[in-house]
Amino acid sequence: MKRFRRLRSAENIRRIVRETHIDKSSLIYPVFVEEGENIKKPVDSMPGVFRYSVDRLGEILAEIRSANIGGLLIFGIPKHKDELGSCAYDDNGITQQAVRYIKSEYPEMLVIADVCLCEYTSHGHCGVVHNGRIINDETLPLLAKMSVSLANAGADIIAPSDMMDGRVAAIRKALDENGFGDTPVMAYSAKFASGYYSPFRDAAESAPSFGDRRTYQMDCANGREAMLEIEEDIAEGADIVMVKPALAYLDLVRAARDRFDMPLAAYNVSGEYSMVKAAAQNGWIDEKRIVMENLTAIKRAGADIIITYHALEAARWIDEEK
Ligand code: PBG
Ligand code: ZN
Repeated sequence: MKRFRRLRSAENIRRIVRETHIDKSSLIYPVFVEEGENIKKPVDSMPGVFRYSVDRLGEILAEIRSANIGGLLIFGIPKHKDELGSCAYDDNGITQQAVRYIKSEYPEMLVIADVCLCEYTSHGHCGVVHNGRIINDETLPLLAKMSVSLANAGADIIAPSDMMDGRVAAIRKALDENGFGDTPVMAYSAKFASGYYSPFRDAAESAPSFGDRRTYQMDCANGREAMLEIEEDIAEGADIVMVKPALAYLDLVRAARDRFDMPLAAYNVSGEYSMVKAAAQNGWIDEKRIVMENLTAIKRAGADIIITYHALEAARWIDEEK
């Protein structure tokens, strides 16, 4: 009989045979910034997450800095929303202002800019709307313009999350033509139409005012199609690809890892975070254990980069273990 328990007998043995470790450098923390002054507003559906105005962004940046995680993913919430999401590609838009501020205070901090129109459009869809339909090819130039504007503000990585076809190619071309040939694109490649995004839409005020996102985000039943989406984004020039959400899609994180020799990100989304927080607040689970187990599972499935609202707390727990 094989004595598996020999290597489990004490922590000093367990730790030398442990197969998966989470590096703090692989964690990315999402940050919400809104227009206005002196704002640090809790997001009701995401305990521990806040929306900041630029003048108070320094508070969370200091935490990110001292946690020494990989970087942040910035989401802007403008005051003015219109049909075409014009604040998204305004060089003085809220997101551009925030990126400029971050890079001036912390030049070495990695700033990933989410590129999508839904926080900026009056209808809350991720693209241009005509007669209740989301028009793919009319959206592409706007996403390209937004990407150039954010790169120009200082964003280190451009991360399109809209799920329009052909957007990686359009963005890559626009970045190259505007002197940002060295700015990488992290594509939300296999992004599913998921119920797990609702706390985020509450945080970012980006819920669609009619219909849903099923005509552009993927059907949660489709794993093979996810591989085609990733393959296409690589062909169009993506430098990093992503599976989103993470936990309910770990089979696809693993499949993508086995299939593509590309840096792979997984997005541990808002609903995944809020469910853990709610159960922890009720005393039903041990939050630290559950969070570390979830993050380890995402890493074990093959993700190199984990975008997570748990990043700051996880960084502390990783330090404690050392
Ligand atoms: C914008 C965007 C969304 C998320 C990231 N970028 C929302 C959506 O697609 O509706 C979701 C993130 C999360 O739930 O944490 N398109
Ligand atoms: Zn969107």
